[in-house]
Amino acid sequence: MMKSFETNGAFQDNYKFLIGSILPRPIAVVSTRNDDGTNNVAPFSFFTAVSAKPMIIAFCPMIRSATGEMKDTVKNIYREKEFVINIFSEELTQKINLTSTELPYGEDEFKFAGLTPIASEKIKAPRVLECPIHFECIYRDHISYSDQPGGGQIITGEVVRVHIDERIIKDGRIVTQELKPVGRGAGNDWFKTDHVFELERLMVQQIQK
Ligand SMILES: Cc1cc2nc3c(=O)[nH]c(=O)nc-3n(C[C@H](O)[C@H](O)[C@H](O)COP(=O)(O)O)c2cc1C
Repeated sequence: MMKSFETNGAFQDNYKFLIGSILPRPIAVVSTRNDDGTNNVAPFSFFTAVSAKPMIIAFCPMIRSATGEMKDTVKNIYREKEFVINIFSEELTQKINLTSTELPYGEDEFKFAGLTPIASEKIKAPRVLECPIHFECIYRDHISYSDQPGGGQIITGEVVRVHIDERIIKDGRIVTQELKPVGRGAGNDWFKTDHVFELERLMVQQIQK
C-alpha cells in the first residue's frame, strides 16, 4: 500500500517529506559580504550544478521560518551580486554545522565557527581557507516561488574562477576519497562518503547489434 497526500497542508509536512526523500544532498557552503564589509557564511543543501559552460551552479535558500525574512546570505547576494560556494571535507563537518547558527545580521559566522576567510581573486566575497574547493560566483538570476515561511527560491551564479587544493587531485581529476565530501539527510542526519563504488554506463553502441 502507498500512502498519499496533497501538498496544500502545513509547509513543515512538505519540508519533512522533501528532506526525507531527496537525499543524500550535497552541501554548498556559501560565503558572502555583509553591508558593513564583515563576512557571512552558511550551508545550503538544496544545491546543484546547472551548466558546464557557462559554468553555472545553483542553490535554494528558503524564507527563514522563525521570522518570515530572507536569510542573510540572500540579502547579501542581492546587494553585492556575488558569492563563493565552498565545498568541505568530512573533518570540517562540526564547524560547518556551526555556521548554520542563525546569528543576527552582521555577526560573522567565520569567527563563530573558527573558520578563516581569505580574499577571492575576481570578486569581493571571501573564500573559506579550510575548504579544498572554492567557486567564485557572480550572481546570474533567481526565481522566487513564495515570500512566506516555507517558500523557496533558486539562485544561480556564474562561476568565474575555481580553486582546488592540489592534495585532492590526481592525474587532473578530483579524487573523491581525498575530498571526503559529506551529504545531508533528513532531520539531523548527515552522510559520509567513505564507500565509493564504480559502475560503467551502458553506451548505446553496446546495445546496438
Ligand atoms: C547541512 C545544512 C544544510 C542546510 N541547507 C539549507 C537549505 O538548503 N536551505 C535553507 O534555506 N537553509 C538551509 N540550512 C539552514 C541555513 O544554513 C541557516 O538558516 C543559516 O542560518 C542561514 O544563514 P544566513 O542567515 O547567514 O544566510 C541548512 C543547514 C545545515 C546545517
